[in-house]
Amino acid sequence: EKHLLGLKGVPASEINAILTRAVFWEQYPAKATSILQGKFVANMFFENSTRTRFSFEMAQKRLGAQVLNFAAAVSSVQKGESIYDTVRTLESMGIDAGVIRMKPEGVLQTLAEKVKIPLINAGDGNNEHPTQALLDFYTMKKQFGDLKGLTVSIIGDVKHSRVARSNLWGLQALGANVKFCAPPNMQAPELVEFAPYVSIEEALLSDVVMLLRVQLERHEDGLFNSAAEYRAQYGLTVERADKMQPHTIIMHPAPVNRNVEIDDELVECDRSRIFSQMANGVPIRMAVIERALS
Ligand code: CP
Repeated sequence: EKHLLGLKGVPASEINAILTRAVFWEQYPAKATSILQGKFVANMFFENSTRTRFSFEMAQKRLGAQVLNFAAAVSSVQKGESIYDTVRTLESMGIDAGVIRMKPEGVLQTLAEKVKIPLINAGDGNNEHPTQALLDFYTMKKQFGDLKGLTVSIIGDVKHSRVARSNLWGLQALGANVKFCAPPNMQAPELVEFAPYVSIEEALLSDVVMLLRVQLERHEDGLFNSAAEYRAQYGLTVERADKMQPHTIIMHPAPVNRNVEIDDELVECDRSRIFSQMANGVPIRMAVIERALS
């Protein structure tokens, strides 16, 4: 089985194969195919999602698979059933692959070893979100071609960001330069050896300026006194965007806190790729699902 648990340690050739196949699916003339006819795929979301869950479902349906959607909030998880027992339950019913999002970190590998179906990580805690990073690379490639030598600044809540981690591992494999920019209490000390933390002024000089969502639900303590204070120090304001190089693009995995990490009028401006990222998620996830089941 071809699991996709994360991008750490995944070679550039493997990443590029997925990106190339996504081009094929984006250019595919028909909206739906039947190549996965007779295959059953379960989307098992133990944490909330809009983009990832629906773009996986779009991808699965476009490939002709049968789709089962599991939502933890209305499942026996509410009676205390574990993630492992839930996945084993669906596996025993005959699913061919599972897409999984969950809060605990460090358990996905063990889970993948215990089941016979391929698992695709749709986000595990603060650890990895590989398909998000793949769609980010796809978006960057569309703009710049080769990612070798590209400079990508990731600004915001790095500490709690699985998007930052998957981007870091994948971008390094592809030869891009990653810089982080975060307030001290949103920095991940264990990542310092892989990418430098720079000032907001320096971060804005990169080819790609990627903002991260301030993840209020993952902060037990108040990390900033107010959204206005975060915006003033680290937000991509209109004034700051004016200082970026003309070719620089703006990215954000979304959902966006408008007027916190990015000003409202920048979300859909010409240099923003935020909604293109969402569109690119579908062909990327078609390539990933196809890879898992072929
Ligand atoms: N970017 C992303 O993962 O969004 P969702 O949480 O809505 O899936």
